[in-house]
Amino acid sequence: MGSYFHVLALLLLSLPCIFSQVTEFISIDCGGDSNYTDKKTGLAWISDTGIMSHGETIDVQNTNDEWEPYKKRRDFPTDDKKYCYNLETKERRRYLVRATFLYGSTENADTYPSFLLYLDATKWATVTVFDGSRTYVEEMIIRAPSSSINVCICCATTGSPFISTLELRPLNLSMYATDYEDHFYMKSAARVNFGAPTKDPIRYPDDPFDRVWESDLVKRPNFLVGIAPGTERINTTKNIEVTNREYPPVKVMQTAVVGTEGNLTYRLTLEDFPGNARAFAYFAEIENIRSNETRKFKMEHPYVPDYSNAVVNIEENANGTNKLYEPSYMNVTLDFVLSFSFVKTPDSTKGPLLSAIEISKYVQIGSKADAQDVIALNAVLAMLPAGVEKQDEGDPCTPTQWEWVTCSSTTPPRITAIHLSKRNLTGPIPPEIQNLDAVTELWLEGNSLIGPIPDISNLVNLRIVHLENNRLNGSLPSYLSSLPSLQELYIQNNDFSGKISPALLSRKMVFNYDGNPKLTKGIRLGTSLKVGISVAALGALIVVILVILLLLRNFKRKTPRQKINYKADANTKPPKKGHNLTRGAHLMEDGIACCIKLSELDAATMKFSKNIGRGSFGVVYYGRMKDGKEIAVKIIGDSTSQGTKQFLTEVSLLSRIHHRNLVPLVGYCEEANHRILVYEYMHNGTLRDHIHDPIKQRQVDWLTRLRIAEDAAKGLEYLHTGCSPSIIHRDVKTSNILLDINMRAKVADFGLSRQAEEDLTHVSSVAKGTLGYLDPEYYANQQLTEKSDVYSFGIVLLELISGRKPITEDYGADWNIVHWARSLIRKGDVGSMMDPLLADNVKLESVWRVAEVAIQCVEQHGISRPKMQEIILAIQDAVMLEKGSENNQNMSSGSGRTPSSRKTLLTSFLEIESPDLSNARLTPSAR
Ligand SMILES: *[C@@H]1O[C@H](CO)[C@@H](O)[C@H](O)[C@H]1NC(C)=O
Ligand SMILES: *[C@@H]1O[C@H](CO)[C@@H](O)[C@H](O)[C@H]1NC(C)=O
Ligand SMILES: *[C@@H]1O[C@H](CO)[C@@H](O)[C@H](O)[C@H]1NC(C)=O
Ligand SMILES: *[C@@H]1O[C@H](CO)[C@@H](O)[C@H](O)[C@H]1NC(C)=O
Ligand SMILES: *[C@@H]1O[C@H](CO)[C@@H](O)[C@H](O)[C@H]1NC(C)=O
Ligand SMILES: *[C@@H]1O[C@H](CO)[C@@H](O)[C@H](O)[C@H]1NC(C)=O
Repeated sequence: MGSYFHVLALLLLSLPCIFSQVTEFISIDCGGDSNYTDKKTGLAWISDTGIMSHGETIDVQNTNDEWEPYKKRRDFPTDDKKYCYNLETKERRRYLVRATFLYGSTENADTYPSFLLYLDATKWATVTVFDGSRTYVEEMIIRAPSSSINVCICCATTGSPFISTLELRPLNLSMYATDYEDHFYMKSAARVNFGAPTKDPIRYPDDPFDRVWESDLVKRPNFLVGIAPGTERINTTKNIEVTNREYPPVKVMQTAVVGTEGNLTYRLTLEDFPGNARAFAYFAEIENIRSNETRKFKMEHPYVPDYSNAVVNIEENANGTNKLYEPSYMNVTLDFVLSFSFVKTPDSTKGPLLSAIEISKYVQIGSKADAQDVIALNAVLAMLPAGVEKQDEGDPCTPTQWEWVTCSSTTPPRITAIHLSKRNLTGPIPPEIQNLDAVTELWLEGNSLIGPIPDISNLVNLRIVHLENNRLNGSLPSYLSSLPSLQELYIQNNDFSGKISPALLSRKMVFNYDGNPKLTKGIRLGTSLKVGISVAALGALIVVILVILLLLRNFKRKTPRQKINYKADANTKPPKKGHNLTRGAHLMEDGIACCIKLSELDAATMKFSKNIGRGSFGVVYYGRMKDGKEIAVKIIGDSTSQGTKQFLTEVSLLSRIHHRNLVPLVGYCEEANHRILVYEYMHNGTLRDHIHDPIKQRQVDWLTRLRIAEDAAKGLEYLHTGCSPSIIHRDVKTSNILLDINMRAKVADFGLSRQAEEDLTHVSSVAKGTLGYLDPEYYANQQLTEKSDVYSFGIVLLELISGRKPITEDYGADWNIVHWARSLIRKGDVGSMMDPLLADNVKLESVWRVAEVAIQCVEQHGISRPKMQEIILAIQDAVMLEKGSENNQNMSSGSGRTPSSRKTLLTSFLEIESPDLSNARLTPSAR
């Protein structure tokens, strides 16, 4: 009881109220069998039995350290798997993560373990036990990369891997911030308290952040040797002011060593060095120095003369006695053996003083598996039946691969194969699988998979696909025949239906489709004609002719031909052309908008039952096509002439425009007075919801917003400059920017789009657009240019920064975001402009960069506004500022991922011969 109160008293005394971290401490006693409060520190420890289901609990024998958390340890199997603890973190907050290892038993010294410790995909340490009674401590200071981290143990070379404790300690805001934290963690190499009263380390509650300050009295080989003669230990009971950046504990600062003969020298080895380090020295003047005396000294480092320049005068540097002076080297290269000395200057009467040092090695953050791949893998993981032991923890690729995946050795690692044969998978194949665009092999046979094959048309590296012996149904997607690398396709013994496309049958590859009673072969064309011309080419000819006939029959052209030029841009796919005929006579291909039957849409949307929104001209419904493709079906309101024109404009425009940042039109339907547009379904809805919806807005942090802005800007830029004649969107706003399953943005709704007429720099027409986004210049004089889109996009950027709507009464007299934002930016106060949700975790420079360009976009006169291209560059700048330049390079190489090159003989044919639809004023033929 007494000691309990003692602990309480200590807690209360040593914790000024700013330090409330202790409630957020996570202290795991690995192998421990109960939860308890340890008497020495007053910390609450939890047993890992509830969170770690692997390995076994071992009693630790024969140790000097009787501390409760060290009485047991957890031993893991010696195999090629990794064993991970998952710890919850707050993204971008800084933490100290500590793992300790006390083996105990000294009976079989030759089997002491040696194994690896990882933090996510970052190699943290090689833990090698030489002395069973020593506690090995590994500490890492991190800025949390996401909402949790994994601490993994693996890869034993001798003995079995084990762990004694795992601790997570949140740090105060700017503690241990470095310029390198985007790419480096800091691994503690030494943290020494000089002049310590005993051999015991100082930690919580003396250190509110529970760092472990080792005593300089500890004796170990090569630890603090070569001490200069005349070194004396001093102490004080006076309080020390420590409220500087790193908040060293007062107790550490109350003791020090002084070199009474003018020198302080020490030598110690730094594990894992040579390397680059952050090095701190902590000083406080705790002796009474008479006015006729001085203490001045320099640091000497034998190999680095530069370090000797600064003269330390603690009292002067700290502006008083009993105050902390904390000089540090942000980045110094150190050897395995660190020798340092502090030497008094000739004019000083007192010798040097040292209270504490801290040295942390920069450890490059390892590259985790591609984030999109991980989303897909987690969706796949969810198909595994409950009760199956899932040993799939931590990163899928590093340090060891999940047992059922193969990873590439690229940066970041990509998933190249999935091996889940006969694993009792249930349910439909998740659509997220389309993220795995580096995958070459899919082994999913012998499970209980149901439903159609999801859209995997962008898995262009697929070579081998095993789907046999499942219960999959639906028709075979037409794109299968054009997956460029596909060599083996097994779908036997499923429940597929419909026709197998001739292209698939005629392709040179292994294709087994037995045991699908409802599956029929399509008509094979011209098998007897093989004189120098492939079956496919002949098919192509026929398709081309049919296409031309169809188009001529259905559409009457009114204007002369105009060539549409597609810019050679990495992001721009050339228009994909149709190349097989199914379902009677209409063109079916996912690249060109095709005419879809009303009955088909009726089935796909379950009789238009799921309303998902309202676009400029009508209600939008969710649907799912037979081949699994998800669609958004927009019914054009009434059949006024305006509606008709709009409808046909959209069809003709959209079917020619393909860009990854524009919502693709899949098809259209004009039947029985209905005019319907069918778009690809965007899973994550509108940007507007993500900014203004109180729940969704939490998903879009600043970087996500920047990426969305960049995507949308690229879409608009393509409309303005990638199409000839160029296209002005005319209704750019956050509800017209949609987000796909990967949160990539696509510009939608060309309902008000209009091609800029070729020889004019502007188009006059009745002003259209949405209040709040409407370009005042255009409104005033009805002259439409691309700069009107730029204005609207500027409003979108301001919305992204501020999280505010373009028009509300909050802005004062004119209700308008523009004047509000402009006055704040003039004052240089971008901070008060920012969405309060973003405030803490954002670099102001990057916000500033975007705010700057946004204000240019909303200039009164179009001529002063930037071009979309310049806006993209500014956003990319901001991303770089936010992430650091290196990440940005990774990003751009990521976006250049394997451009889909689905070019077959057929499509080459069509490229030459495709009927030119550009600028066709499509009018329905008499029916
Ligand atoms: C220990 O505490 C944790 C977290 O509070 C809890 O989940 C677990 O059940 C507790 N274990 C025991 C053995 O009481
Ligand atoms: C402080 O220093 C005095 C001598 O100056 C010594 O007797 C005492 O033990 C020291 N106390 C601690 C806690 O080191
Ligand atoms: C103190 O350091 C200086 C310079 O490194 C050296 O010349 C001198 O011998 C040292 N004195 C002692 C007592 O170690
Ligand atoms: C430290 O300095 C070295 C050499 O100047 C440089 O290569 C390195 O990138 C810097 N930063 C880190 C974290 O190592
Ligand atoms: C400083 O003054 C004190 C007396 O006030 C004297 O004892 C001491 O020797 C002086 N120290 C030096 C370095 O002059
Ligand atoms: C030093 O402290 C004094 C009084 O405590 C204060 O007036 C002065 O501004 C301080 N100087 C610096 C540089 O902090």
